[in-house]
Amino acid sequence: MSFIPFELERWQSTWENRVSFNLSESGVHPLTIDELLRITDTHRDELADVRLGYSQADGTEPLREEIAKLYQGVTAENVIVTVGSSEANFVTTWTLLQPGDHVAILSPLYRQTWGLAQNFGAKVSTFELKPELEWEPDPEEIARAIVPGTKLVIVTNPNNPTGHVLSNDARAEILARTEAVGAWLLADEVYLGAELSGQTTETFWGSYEKTVAVNGLSKAYALPGLRIGWLVAPAEFKEALWSRHDYTVISPASASDFLATRALRVRDKILARTRAILNENYPILDSWLRQFGPAVNWWRPDCGAISFVQYEQAIASLDLAERIRQENDVLIEPGEHFGFERSIRFGYGNETGEFKRALDVLTPAFKKYLMD
Ligand SMILES: Cc1ncc(COP(=O)(O)O)c(C=O)c1O
Repeated sequence: MSFIPFELERWQSTWENRVSFNLSESGVHPLTIDELLRITDTHRDELADVRLGYSQADGTEPLREEIAKLYQGVTAENVIVTVGSSEANFVTTWTLLQPGDHVAILSPLYRQTWGLAQNFGAKVSTFELKPELEWEPDPEEIARAIVPGTKLVIVTNPNNPTGHVLSNDARAEILARTEAVGAWLLADEVYLGAELSGQTTETFWGSYEKTVAVNGLSKAYALPGLRIGWLVAPAEFKEALWSRHDYTVISPASASDFLATRALRVRDKILARTRAILNENYPILDSWLRQFGPAVNWWRPDCGAISFVQYEQAIASLDLAERIRQENDVLIEPGEHFGFERSIRFGYGNETGEFKRALDVLTPAFKKYLMD
């Protein structure tokens, strides 16, 4: 089996810092260090005094305690602080998967775990979020994907790219099947906290004992540059996960660990800023999309600075995104990177003025490629 590259990340890594407008990002306009210091009431000297030694490898006690408060029945002993939620996904799949294992994965999703599972030699089945079901999965498909012998079930909830939050029924169905076959559940919840309504999505943690819940500061907290994520796992399983983390990065950066602790202490303030950006920008995207009439179709996301837009024209999404990049210097995320054609994921979390200018630049391109 040949290596599966992570196409979405390579597309973004190649272009995101070179284009005039980046609408491929799924988080909100990030905070500067200065803004973070102000919002957390931290004096510059406190940051300057952080000693740049190796930090506690599984995350400092104060940071793990802040994280533990976000979950029922969790202590610092259940938590590993990772370098981004991507490291948490990596160590979890690496720990659990052997060649030949079967993995059931929600689709579409951020395809890190989908690619990793296959690169670790596992066989992957998917159960799909369906646009005709308003991005809910079909219970029969869940049952067909999560079969006896399944080692791991992977969900992203709230979902990237659709911005959908699973209904209680869908959640219960996934949990029931996972428990029935005795699989592990990896719940990537990195968008949790970025709900437009302000109603926090329920974590999968606490519903089933063989769960690893993943989260981090990159999306809802607007701090991707800190590269702080975490996983919450049964305490007896933490050791196995940590022994992989020893091989990946050793420990999180000490300055990031310090700032992350301060950020989580004012979580509500940061999430309020995120929600304000989402609720200001989404209506702008929505009314901009309306001008293209039936050429496009989209749903209001429940969560996250992402809108998954479907279009009617036959042009392949990567071709469309590539032309727009070359001709308009705007980066959008082609649906192909989620295994979903004739669709584009818009990131709408940019600073509002910049976001409007990017849409103005895109208008003629959309008319040309999606309406003519
Ligand atoms: C669902 C999901 N998980 C994980 C990540 C990785 O994020 P990070 O490593 O910055 O926490 C992303 C990034 O887009 C994502 O969308």
